[in-house]
Amino acid sequence: MPEEYRSRRSCLAVPGSSQRFLDKARGLAADEVFLDLEDAVAPAAKEAARRNVIAALNAGGWGGRLVAVRVNDATTRWAYRDVAEVVAAARRGLDAIILPKVTDPGHVVWLDLMLGQIEQDTGGEPGRIGIEAQIEDARGLARVDEIAAASPRLRALVFGPADFMASVGMRSLRVGAQPAGYVGSDAYHYPLLRILVAARGHGLAAIDGPYLAIGDLDGLAEAAASTAALGYDGKWVLHPGQIDVVNQAFTPGQDDYERAELILDAYRYFTTEQHRGAAMLGDEMIDEASRKLALAVAAKGRAAGLRRSQRFEPVPEGSAEHPPPGEGLGQPAGQG
Ligand code: GLV
Ligand code: MG
Repeated sequence: MPEEYRSRRSCLAVPGSSQRFLDKARGLAADEVFLDLEDAVAPAAKEAARRNVIAALNAGGWGGRLVAVRVNDATTRWAYRDVAEVVAAARRGLDAIILPKVTDPGHVVWLDLMLGQIEQDTGGEPGRIGIEAQIEDARGLARVDEIAAASPRLRALVFGPADFMASVGMRSLRVGAQPAGYVGSDAYHYPLLRILVAARGHGLAAIDGPYLAIGDLDGLAEAAASTAALGYDGKWVLHPGQIDVVNQAFTPGQDDYERAELILDAYRYFTTEQHRGAAMLGDEMIDEASRKLALAVAAKGRAAGLRRSQRFEPVPEGSAEHPPPGEGLGQPAGQG
């Protein structure tokens, strides 16, 4: 879990070819907004979309959310101008470039070098602009560890279910939903876990891709809850109506959040005041692994704006609640 955790619960795709959607996106509650120059934009509209995106970035008004641009993939004729023109013009208004269809770590290295050249040329802060790499086909998945290690600018790996389904020949047109006829429990489990492990192995966020049935909010909630439970940080959304469902799915429950903060306080107390590595908190044993788990939940909760109402207070020695020797002390105090 990175030290300074940024929420990416919902990542809203906004087609760069639609002025109306670009204008509307500023007022929406997505944690990240990305302006798309890739698959949501027809080939004939690519150049005009690039100009719209530059104007939208320069106009500002994006609040505290993360702002990214998805450029065309590194093998296309549009990619170099997408990067050069958007980044040179946008300066501080841009947090990251989303690079789609990454099949080779060389794609990420290419983007890293280009960003470095533009930063030098324009006086930008070196390394400030991040990269989010989309893993969305068999080749990309097979090399996901090398891709995750390809640049210090990488911030996230993003699963692309639509392209992935096409790449592996999954027999379904319902992107993000389970394919009919599949008797396993989750047809996306392998790529999702593979990407998650590679991301965490390199300190990156892991983002799930879109759920295309915009009207099926129950199906979206189920898919989002499943990847949130697996450990993912967020999910793409394609429509304003999907944002609340996804934000909710990726926000830890209040009880889990309170418990995580208590574990962190209690473990700090036990290790520093009592020099103990394992102890009881209420009726549960906590140790260093519990602290790491709690750190992840607490970071997600804080970044999502949750507030705690309980404080940890050690139980005084000799009290009735004091456990037998060799066990720990402490319990959550009431509201505080
Ligand atoms: C997103 O780009 C996807 O292919 O699902
Ligand atoms: Mg795709």
